[in-house]
This record gives sequence, C-alpha cells and structure tokens, in this order.
Amino acid sequence: MEKLIFLSMLCLVLVACSNSDDEEVDVPVSVEETAEYKAAEAYYNSTLKSVITASCTSCHAGYHRNSNTSNYGTFTNAMNRATGMYSQVNSGGMPKGGDKLPQDDIDKFEDFKDLVGLIPSE
Ligand code: HEC
Repeated sequence: MEKLIFLSMLCLVLVACSNSDDEEVDVPVSVEETAEYKAAEAYYNSTLKSVITASCTSCHAGYHRNSNTSNYGTFTNAMNRATGMYSQVNSGGMPKGGDKLPQDDIDKFEDFKDLVGLIPSE
C-alpha cells in the first residue's frame, strides 16, 4: 500500500514537472526576432524607404535638430517616428515647403505605421 501511495505521488510530481516544461516554451524573444518586427522592417526596405529617400532625407538625414533621431533613412528611426511621419504627410505638413505627397505614397506611410503598431513592445 505504501508503495502504491509513493508511486502515485511520483506520478503527480512527474505531471507537475512536465507542465512547467510546457510553460518554458514561452521563452521571451527579443523584439527584433519577432515576425512583426521583421515584417515592418521588410516593408520599410522594400516599399517605404525609396519614398523617404526621395522626399525626406534631404532634411531628415541626421543633422536636423542636432540629433540623429530624425534620420528617417534608417529603419529604427523611421520605426520610432512611424506615427508622426504618417500624420505629417497625411496633413500635408511634410515635406516641408513642398507639395503634399501623392495618396499612393501617403498610404505607404499608413501601412508602415500599422505594421509598426503590431510590433510587441517587449
Ligand atoms: C525641406 C526640409 C524638410 C523636408 C523635405 C521634410 N522635412 Fe520634416 N521637418 C523639417 C523641419 C525643419 C522640421 C521641424 C519642425 C518644423 O519646422 O516644421 C520637421 C519636422 C518633422 C516631423 C516632426 C518632428 C519629428 O522629428 O518627429 C516629422 C514627423 C517630419 N518632419 C516628417 C517628415 C517626412 C515624413 C518627410 C518626407 C515626406 C519630411 N519630414 C520632409 C524639414 C523637412
């Protein structure tokens, strides 16, 4: 009888252990490794960057406001300003002093902002 109790305890312990193994599948990955980050980066490189190079980096190339944060020619800076960039081009505020961008290009800023919005924060 004692052996039986011991065996059932052992089974319980094993079940408990295998459950906690399952939880470890949820290992935190860095943001850069997520599919959402990679999708936003791929979209930036394939679609948005050429628009930014043509219309924005003449001013936003790193020297603007003595900081590099507005160098929209790099993905991480563009990612950090995705919402601001979209509202500026959508309102026609940017490119500064120039014509409002064609709707096609404004849509690219919107798509990019939406993709960036899907990236998990940590
Ligand atoms: C002719 C120079 C020039 C061009 C071209 C230009 N900008 Fe700007 N931008 C500025 C200046 C100067 C400011 C600072 C605010 C102001 O003076 O209106 C600014 C501010 C901004 C801001 C708000 C501040 C910030 O850093 O978040 C955003 C967003 C922005 N620009 C996005 C863009 C985007 C996107 C484009 C391309 C479609 C663009 N700009 C093209 C000169 C320019």
